[in-house]
Amino acid sequence: MIILKSQDEIKRIAEACHIAAEALENIKKIVSPKNTTLELDRFAETFIVSKGATPAFKGYKGYPASLCTSVNEEVVHGIPSAAKRLKEGDIISLDVGVYYKGFYGDAAVTLPVGKINDTAKRLLVATEGALYQGMKSAVIGNRLSDISSAIQDYVETRGFSVVRNFVGHGIGRELHEEPQLPNFGSPGEGPVLMDGMVLAIEPMVNAGTWEVVILDDGWTAVTRDNSLSAHFEHTVAITLDGPKALTKL
Ligand code: MF3
Ligand code: CO
Repeated sequence: MIILKSQDEIKRIAEACHIAAEALENIKKIVSPKNTTLELDRFAETFIVSKGATPAFKGYKGYPASLCTSVNEEVVHGIPSAAKRLKEGDIISLDVGVYYKGFYGDAAVTLPVGKINDTAKRLLVATEGALYQGMKSAVIGNRLSDISSAIQDYVETRGFSVVRNFVGHGIGRELHEEPQLPNFGSPGEGPVLMDGMVLAIEPMVNAGTWEVVILDDGWTAVTRDNSLSAHFEHTVAITLDGPKALTKL
C-alpha cells in the first residue's frame, strides 16, 4: 500500500530532508584527495547528530555507517573505511539518510575528486540529468513507470546503462515504503501518481554494462565490468503544484 502524506507530514519529511541536504553540502567541502571515506562518514554523523537528528542508515539491516561512500566502479552501499583514501580523478557517490522527529529524508550526489576525465564528467552530468528528467514525470495523473522510462531513455540516449538491481522507493515514516521505483521500464504502467506521494528517486548509472556484483563485505555493489558508476537521489513530493525536491537546498 502506498501511504499518501498530508501537507503537514510533507513539511515534516522536508525537515529531515533539509538536514540530509545540508549534510551533503557540508561534506562536499571536505571531499579532496587527502581524505579517507571514513573521515567523510565521521563528519556526516557529527553533523546529523548536531542537528538533533539520527543517521538513518546506521544499523539498517546491519549497515555499519552513517554514509554510503561509493568510489569509481562502486555503484552504491560502499562502506566508509580508513583504508580508502580518495585520489585525484576519482568520483565518489555520497548517500545519506536522516531520521528526524518521526520522518525520513534520503539524498545522494556523486562528486568529482579534483580533475576527472571526460567519460567521468559525462557520466555525472547524465546521471544528475536523469534524476531531473525523472522528476519532470513525477506529476499527478502520470503512472509510476513514466518516471522509470524517462530515466532509462535519458541515460541510454547518452550511451550509458541503468542499474537494474536497486530501485528508488516511497519514503516517509519508514526509510523504504511502497512503491518500488525501478530506473527502467516501459511507460504507462504501475500505480497512478497522486497528490501526497513521496518518492526517493535515485538513478544509478554505469558507464559500461548495467550488471553489478556484490563484494564479500555483503554491501558494496560494484559494476561487473569495473566501469565507472554514478548515483544521484532526491526525496521528491508529488503535489498539486508539481514535483518538489525536498532534499534540494
Ligand atoms: N539510498 C539508499 C536506499 O534507499 C541507501 C540505503 S543504505 C542502507 O536504500 F545502509 F541503509 F541500506
Ligand atoms: Co534511497
